[in-house]
Amino acid sequence: MPRGVPVPPDETTTVLRVSGRTTGTDGVLTLTLVDPSGRKLPEWSPGAHIDLMLSEIDLVRQYSLCGDPTDRHKWRVAVLLEPNGRGGSRHVHQALGTGKAVRVRGPRNNFPLEPAARYLFIAGGIGITPILPMVAAAEAEGRDWQLVYGGRSRASMAFLDELKAYGDRVRVHPQEERGLLPLAELLDTPRQDCLVYCCGPEPLLGAVEERCTGWPSGALRTERFGARPVPVPADEGGTAFEVECRRSGLTLAVAPHESILDVADRAGVLTFAACREGVCGTCETSVVEGAPEHRDSLLTEEQRAAGKSMMICVSRTRGSRIVLDL
Ligand code: FES
Repeated sequence: MPRGVPVPPDETTTVLRVSGRTTGTDGVLTLTLVDPSGRKLPEWSPGAHIDLMLSEIDLVRQYSLCGDPTDRHKWRVAVLLEPNGRGGSRHVHQALGTGKAVRVRGPRNNFPLEPAARYLFIAGGIGITPILPMVAAAEAEGRDWQLVYGGRSRASMAFLDELKAYGDRVRVHPQEERGLLPLAELLDTPRQDCLVYCCGPEPLLGAVEERCTGWPSGALRTERFGARPVPVPADEGGTAFEVECRRSGLTLAVAPHESILDVADRAGVLTFAACREGVCGTCETSVVEGAPEHRDSLLTEEQRAAGKSMMICVSRTRGSRIVLDL
């Protein structure tokens, strides 16, 4: 979906059935989802994710599609059990048995594979999931590519068997055998013809971002599991401001510790949200007038500078008023 276009109210939400479950490496559960009546599922492209709407525990969780986009009859997601998380992965592991129904929204792609002569894919842990269909696409298109895949231990790294098929294009780096990923070797010489795709835990993303500062603008594409650490302003939330919801004809006051999303929801303005942390892109809203202060973990530097859209779950305005397409 192009940036700046509000999420349409009819974005596909459907009930799918779990047709298969595989517990593979440490704590990683792979689910296969199908339409209960055998209908084709919506199209998707590498990098896309879906929302699992876990209504029993009132949580929405995003998982990358990691199967084959040409197979329109099933989707595959892999879910790492996070014992100290907020319960989403635990619920998926415990409650979504074979035959169970689950409400799903999407797919949506915030991490699309753009055309390039070469690709360097860097995955850490469960961050391998969006990368899997990307390497398959790069291989099918005959691109020059390399994947460097790190994890705690070989036993904790999902999909190693599938990746064997690509031979030495894939470098597997279990930390307990080989130490940290060789980021200096991989990234210290910027290339003009290469896009770098990285997904994994925050320390890996931060280190890759630092190493890529000398690369051409836009060469690095990242996807985060959670919110990017942002410097917290002295007042921790922000200052109060007004938001004009142009389509609804309402002007609302946003207090320092409220989000635009919360205030708009309370006023009955139609909004869409999932993560509420600036990670998933569901709440992206077009800016009509005013300067956003971006606090999300999604938009690129160019998109931030353009100021055409913002994630209203976390972002605010640099001024005292902003006009949004709400
Ligand atoms: Fe996920 Fe705002 S709800 S980015």
